Amino acid sequence: MAVVTGASSGIGRSFAVQLAERGLDVVIVARRGDRLRELAATLRDAHGVTITVLSTDLAHPAAPADILEAVAPLDVGLLVSNAGFGVKGPFDEVNAGTLASMLAVNCHAPTQLAHGLVPRLKQRGRGGVIFTSSVEGFLGCPYSAGYSATKAYMNALGEALWTELGPHGVDVLTLCPGATDTEAPRLQGIDPTTLQDLMSPDDVVRSALEALRSGPTHVPSAHYRELFDTLLSMPRREALTAMAQAIGT
Ligand SMILES: NC(=O)c1ccc[n+]([C@@H]2O[C@H](COP(=O)([O-])OP(=O)(O)OC[C@H]3O[C@@H](n4cnc5c(N)ncnc54)[C@H](OP(=O)(O)O)[C@@H]3O)[C@@H](O)[C@H]2O)c1
Repeated sequence: MAVVTGASSGIGRSFAVQLAERGLDVVIVARRGDRLRELAATLRDAHGVTITVLSTDLAHPAAPADILEAVAPLDVGLLVSNAGFGVKGPFDEVNAGTLASMLAVNCHAPTQLAHGLVPRLKQRGRGGVIFTSSVEGFLGCPYSAGYSATKAYMNALGEALWTELGPHGVDVLTLCPGATDTEAPRLQGIDPTTLQDLMSPDDVVRSALEALRSGPTHVPSAHYRELFDTLLSMPRREALTAMAQAIGT
């Protein structure tokens, strides 16, 4: 049984679909219950699996505890903590409430969900945790400062847990996609077709599931892997300047 957050669209939806295709029962979490119920019906019909719908706002601080309570009777072997969102613009012009919600959804919820489920995974002696982070977590990205910082937090959490949980038979993978063709770029006012090396969410997820045992981090796109390998090999000041120039600041 897997728990997938952010399953109503994009990368999370692809996780739910591909896990159900492999015969796993899945608990799907997001705010848009209509989307989740539609997906649940499709997956039950197609694969005969059990799909549990939890329509929850992860920006609410109590949401992770509610989810943990709901999945307490289930044998959870995989957590895919994927829900997240970003906001672009000068840091001081970003709405303060939006920043707070972003920290809750992108950092607080994944931390609390992992904290609640890790003891059970350790007890099972096998299982996995996938955190959907971003290549933006590797280096502070200007005009995406808050989002970039949330993903840096996730990269550190994922790396630390990879080391802690490996000896207990629990795989931890921090998935760091580059540009992916989901609702996320559009919600930030970006036309995805203008992005470099745009991947489909299905390909991102296929690549992540193949890499689950090869943590700690996984960048599914060769283009972004090479770009960030180069940037991270440079002195930090030069890397930050090069990235700022690349995004036209
Ligand atoms: N697309 C990219 O280029 C890209 C690149 C790197 C990393 N990522 C990361 O990939 C992950 C998935 O994003 P995506 O690209 O698939 O975008 P997406 O299509 O916008 O999906 C985001 C998912 O997160 C859920 N979500 C957002 N806020 C939520 C909240 N307050 N409570 C509960 N669920 C919430 C959304 O569901 P509801 O709206 O129904 O709640 C949706 O299911 C995110 O962590 C994102 O940061 C994306």
